Amino acid sequence: MEFTIKSGSPEKQRSACVVVGVFDNRKLSLSAELIDRASNGYISEIIRRGDMEGKLGSTLLLHNVRGTLADRVLLIGLGKERDFRDKEFRTAVRSAVTLLNETGSYEAVIYLTEEKVKRREVAWRVEHAVIVAMDAVYRFEQMKSEPAEVRRPLRKLTLSVPQRSDLSDGEAATARGLAIAHGMDFARDLGNLPGNVCTPSYLADRALELAREFPDIKARILERKEIEDLGMGSFLSVTNGSEQPPRFIILEYDRSVRKQRPFVLVGKGITFDSGGISIKPATDMDQMKFDMCGAASVLGVFRTIAELKSKLNVVGLIAACENLPSGRATKPGDIVKSMSGQTVEVLNTDAEGRLILADALTYAERYEPEAVVDVATLTGAIVIALGHVACGVFSNSDALARALVGAGDDAYDRAWQLPLWEDYQEGLNSNFADFANVAGRAGGSITAACFLSRFTKKYDWAHLDIAGIAWKDGKDKGATGRPVPLLATWLLSQEGNAAPQ
Ligand code: BES
Ligand code: MN
Ligand code: ZN
Repeated sequence: MEFTIKSGSPEKQRSACVVVGVFDNRKLSLSAELIDRASNGYISEIIRRGDMEGKLGSTLLLHNVRGTLADRVLLIGLGKERDFRDKEFRTAVRSAVTLLNETGSYEAVIYLTEEKVKRREVAWRVEHAVIVAMDAVYRFEQMKSEPAEVRRPLRKLTLSVPQRSDLSDGEAATARGLAIAHGMDFARDLGNLPGNVCTPSYLADRALELAREFPDIKARILERKEIEDLGMGSFLSVTNGSEQPPRFIILEYDRSVRKQRPFVLVGKGITFDSGGISIKPATDMDQMKFDMCGAASVLGVFRTIAELKSKLNVVGLIAACENLPSGRATKPGDIVKSMSGQTVEVLNTDAEGRLILADALTYAERYEPEAVVDVATLTGAIVIALGHVACGVFSNSDALARALVGAGDDAYDRAWQLPLWEDYQEGLNSNFADFANVAGRAGGSITAACFLSRFTKKYDWAHLDIAGIAWKDGKDKGATGRPVPLLATWLLSQEGNAAPQ
């Protein structure tokens, strides 16, 4: 979809559709007021009759409104004016775009971006309008024999800003929003692909392809032999039961002005998690194709920052493999040696994410990073703790955790910090190895993070447990593209901030 920024009166737009807001209790927004005046009170007449009350997300499509140059006027309910915040703004844009995409308008001018949102500037409104619009029209149809056809899909959106002086901020925000949306779409496509297509080698190929498309990105793929030579026994123990070879994907992007230390993103790339010998129940096991969504979000963020040519130094590390049972699979009780030299008793082969991340986190040390953030669909317990709203943040640096939580708030891709206190560590004690890969059921997300913390002592590190937010279940089943917005917002806020190398 194409986006442009404009400043001007709604009644003067020659467009297939002009979209304006109405607040709850029938109060017209400024742009609805202008249409009302141009049409001799037509809008207020409709509102008086009770056809549009202004309830958040409600819609009313009008044709041939007198005094205007557009074919249609779309009224969007904004809810109560004093409650119009981030969520309400996004809901209003989403319902406008969804309706436009289902009706005959292939193009429209949206005035919702002129409405004041508490604590947010015009750039925020534009960026979020673009992201929400792209999200609302996203479809995953590559595996269908015949894609469902939208008659005249929405092709072009013009977003209105209050003043001419807002145009340049609006344009920059459009570019940001689009780059983030493209990163999300990329991550979602990878997440939605089935495990028989999206294998570790497929992920590696997509990384190489990304590097061809963006010359600022360098991609390097390590195969089994090199992974063995690095001593990644923890990672490799997870691949034992699988016929698909593992891949270790390295992405490098450096446009930092004075050579700065890199931010390292580490992604969990389990392309299917059956649980291994500690096999999962059959119900919903298909959803474990999404167990590579951490890896997908790392690839997505690389697309975003490369598209924006951001002045950052970023490294992406993805450990990719399948977790399957077989006669060769790792068994409960097996002891493996990680790249760090620490030995791990694998009490549960379904706690495989932490085993592959452990070695990737050790590999990260060689970059002398400014900070390392790993992204993983790590535990079912985080879904119980935070539901599908926020991902969990764990960190050995409170400043880093705060920055990530703040970025999540700005990006409306929220994250919430959980503790990493010493007291939780003892659950991992083992009588046979340096430690075990699981503790009890209690505090499962925290003890998983505790396990990772044993491999991250040499740098500032945060762990995002995205198991609750990376995909949706139910009728909208599918990958969400989260936490690409959070990661991109955080990284972009760090431009120029890293210490010199
Ligand atoms: N990929 C899963 C986490 C998961 C489970 C995400 C369900 C979303 C929904 C992970 O590899 C896993 O299996 N974790 C186990 C850990 C346990 C064995 C300590 C879990 O959460 O049950
Ligand atoms: Mn598992
Ligand atoms: Zn898993």
